[in-house]
Amino acid sequence: MSLQKKYLMTPGPTPVPAEVLLKMAAPIIHHRTPEFEAVIKEAEANLQYVFDTKNDVLLFASSGTGVMEGAIVNCFCAGDTVIVARNGKFGDRQKLIAQTYGLQVIDLQYEWYEQVKAADIEAALKAHPDARGVIVTQSETSSGVLNPVRDIAAITAEYEDVVLIVDSITGIGAVECRTDEWGLDVVMTGSQKGLMLPPGLAAVSVSEKAWRAADRSTLPKFYFDWKKHRKAMKESMTPYTPAVTLILGLNEALKLMREEGLEAVIARHSLLASATRTGVEAIGLKLFAPPEGRGSAVTPVWAPDGISSGKIVGIMKREYGVTITNGQDAYKDRIFRIGHLGYFGPFDIITTLTALEMALTQLGYDFEQGASIRAAEAVFLS
Ligand SMILES: Cc1ncc(COP(=O)(O)O)c(C=O)c1O
Repeated sequence: MSLQKKYLMTPGPTPVPAEVLLKMAAPIIHHRTPEFEAVIKEAEANLQYVFDTKNDVLLFASSGTGVMEGAIVNCFCAGDTVIVARNGKFGDRQKLIAQTYGLQVIDLQYEWYEQVKAADIEAALKAHPDARGVIVTQSETSSGVLNPVRDIAAITAEYEDVVLIVDSITGIGAVECRTDEWGLDVVMTGSQKGLMLPPGLAAVSVSEKAWRAADRSTLPKFYFDWKKHRKAMKESMTPYTPAVTLILGLNEALKLMREEGLEAVIARHSLLASATRTGVEAIGLKLFAPPEGRGSAVTPVWAPDGISSGKIVGIMKREYGVTITNGQDAYKDRIFRIGHLGYFGPFDIITTLTALEMALTQLGYDFEQGASIRAAEAVFLS
């Protein structure tokens, strides 16, 4: 069998740069040492940089779902009312977690291909003056939709007792997320996304308003108790054994991001997304997310009529070594998703479009071969 080179083009896990992998190959160090305290200090400053905030940023050894659960148990009491605006799988998960802990959910449900509307949140807050929180996904990975968290924050800012919780798990490091300037109370991310790390770390930023919510919260919590983590972070420690190796990797990844500069990182993602979109449209495919709300983390695309997206994904992976992902839930086998957040450059996109064209040709789709590559190249050249 000939060697097949692999290309990971999914919206998480994402590829890890060699510099980061090398750092993580170092022998393990003990976490209760001055050496590791310096590492934690650096990690906190790095996270504040990438979250664009001066708020506390707490670090957990968990996947993203852990900090989603943590946000609920730290901000609320059983029976509290929260508004969940959802237009995809991860918004659905936010609702489920809130209900699991006995919250009353005001459910603002949209189609997956629609953007959440800030005006609906404003109306829901007026209709439910007892609401204590608004929960929204900034970059919905299942649909590629970018939700207007800045506009939503302008509304929640008017309510002293309402915290805005933002799942930016595929937003941070891929799209603009100005935590302080926009007034986002709780922002979450996971390591296997824009941070260019393996899975296993998650981070959350907590505003003063969110700390006030934490003071009144009575929901049970132990590992995800923010206050324990804040206390330990103040002493450059973590309350429990941290994911030492991943945190060493985090600091190296952030070194690369700082060298590029956050604005340039976001601009690179925007360019990659634009080339991907232009490429797939040039071969007659339709984008899933609406034009007004397309994020730069992932590009979901409708499969051509009569062709299962699962088949496209399967051929690309099996025959060409390029892993993209199928749609989820109701969109399984109807859309495919090309991830481009984190350690990606123009030639990853060109390679993926080439594999896509080859798979589509094998499946009998009629289009002008090479058109997606030419279109993407033109975007990169412009
Ligand atoms: C937007 C979003 N929220 C939440 C999650 C859940 O994160 P995890 O799978 O790391 O628990 C993901 C993961 O894909 C995501 O993309």
